[in-house]
Amino acid sequence: MNGTTQMEKGIVPQLETTEQIIDEIQNIHLLSESKVSQQTIGSNESLQCILETSQHVLDTDDGAEDENENLTQTRETFYKDAQQYWQTVPATVDGMLGGFSNINFTDIRGSQDFLKEIFKMKPSPNKNIALDCGAGIGRVSKHLLIPIFNTVDIVEQDEHFANSVKEYVGNSAKLGTIFNEGLQEFHPKSARYDVIWCQWVLGHLTNDDFVEFFERCGKALSKHGIIIVKENVTSTENVDIDDVDSSVTRPLGMMKALLAQSGLRIVKMVRQHNFPSGIFPVYMFALRPTKRNL
Ligand SMILES: C[S@@+](CC[C@H](N)C(=O)[O-])C[C@H]1O[C@@H](n2cnc3c(N)ncnc32)[C@H](O)[C@@H]1O
Repeated sequence: MNGTTQMEKGIVPQLETTEQIIDEIQNIHLLSESKVSQQTIGSNESLQCILETSQHVLDTDDGAEDENENLTQTRETFYKDAQQYWQTVPATVDGMLGGFSNINFTDIRGSQDFLKEIFKMKPSPNKNIALDCGAGIGRVSKHLLIPIFNTVDIVEQDEHFANSVKEYVGNSAKLGTIFNEGLQEFHPKSARYDVIWCQWVLGHLTNDDFVEFFERCGKALSKHGIIIVKENVTSTENVDIDDVDSSVTRPLGMMKALLAQSGLRIVKMVRQHNFPSGIFPVYMFALRPTKRNL
């Protein structure tokens, strides 16, 4: 089962009250970089280092070259393994949702409700151009973004998914550019996007690439633009490592800390309701850059 709707073994998701969520948002700026690396990380040693900040390696002289080389190799393997995994997955909604195609409707409905709330905010984003990140065959683009925005660009690392987008979405005139690239390499055009949507893909980025990607996304937002993240989180303080699809699921605190490190502040956060019990809790975050570019 892939990272999308992975079962969280032995854990019954706990519902959070609005007050608890607001408390957590207010604490976000208190979470420091060191707190990120202090999180308990799962048992897979080869993946542990890509989750820790690599800065200490770059700063040390003793053995720095060797350590750097190991880190680079581990990072490459992490991305290569994920690429190989996704090549084997069918270009279908079921493939995108790890066999849980029955949650497609609930997922899209939850996202629509979240976006409606975002458009009620003042100032709210324009509805001109959106970017769907790690879009797969374009499930989110087709059902959520294309009905709202004039143009939807797509970034997807897997070639067979990227090539399936036009057929799945139906060759809509609203479909913009399809970038066949990994998010770790992707440089979105400055000040282009009103909404950047990232769903069920961030577990495929190392912590460093996560932060750098969102720093670039912050600069790619148009005036009043917003980034939306919809991702699994663990119910514990531990990172869950999936060796099958080469991904990680981060705890909520770690997600918030990484987003803060990326120069983003959470303006709204909601837990997706009505997903099957036993799967990872899924949260939607609306984010704005802490410093305005425009
Ligand atoms: C679980 S699917 C989700 C697809 C889509 N976001 C959705 O919700 O239907 C994960 C997608 O992320 C893509 N992916 C994995 N690693 C990626 C990376 N480093 N950069 C961009 N996309 C990636 C996979 O190829 C796959 O299409």
